[in-house]
Amino acid sequence: MRRVKWMAAVSVAAVVGLGGAHAQSLTERFAVADPAKGQKVFNKCRACHTIEEGGPARVGPNLWGAVGRPVAARDYSYSDAMIAFGGVWSVDRLDVYLEAPRTVVPGGKMAFVGLARPEDRINIIAYLNQNSGAPVDLGAAAAAVEAGQ
Ligand code: HEC
Repeated sequence: MRRVKWMAAVSVAAVVGLGGAHAQSLTERFAVADPAKGQKVFNKCRACHTIEEGGPARVGPNLWGAVGRPVAARDYSYSDAMIAFGGVWSVDRLDVYLEAPRTVVPGGKMAFVGLARPEDRINIIAYLNQNSGAPVDLGAAAAAVEAGQ
């Protein structure tokens, strides 16, 4: 029993350590973004969101063209918290929101735990970006965030 617990602790430490040893920049992360993998991650979102152009709102708003569009811009009854959050869905804001929706928009109504794995978030942002009438250049967008623009 003790031994099993100890091994679990070591593997948690290894995972945490990997993240800490080399925190990748947004540009590095987007350089390997894979929309096909993001499509699989979208299975976690489908119960609540449609993705195709003109798709209906479900529990949440339609996500066609979400990357780079203003927050709360769809025909949907957003929470006051999301409306107050405001601004634009830039790549970095999507990254932090999708990691912890309830923390980033407290009082928001997206009842989803979040995507803990950084690569899942990058891949799904790439998939969302593919499902858009005006995809953004993700590498350039990430570089602009890092340059503080
Ligand atoms: C349990 C239902 C549910 C799940 C699962 C869910 N969402 Fe949501 N999502 C919502 C709701 C509800 C809102 C509206 C939030 C508000 O108004 O506070 C929302 C809002 C959003 C928004 C903001 C849209 C806008 O128009 O501003 C994005 C982006 C988003 N979700 C992406 C995702 C992604 C990507 C996933 C899967 C990884 C996901 N959501 C999973 C319910 C969900």
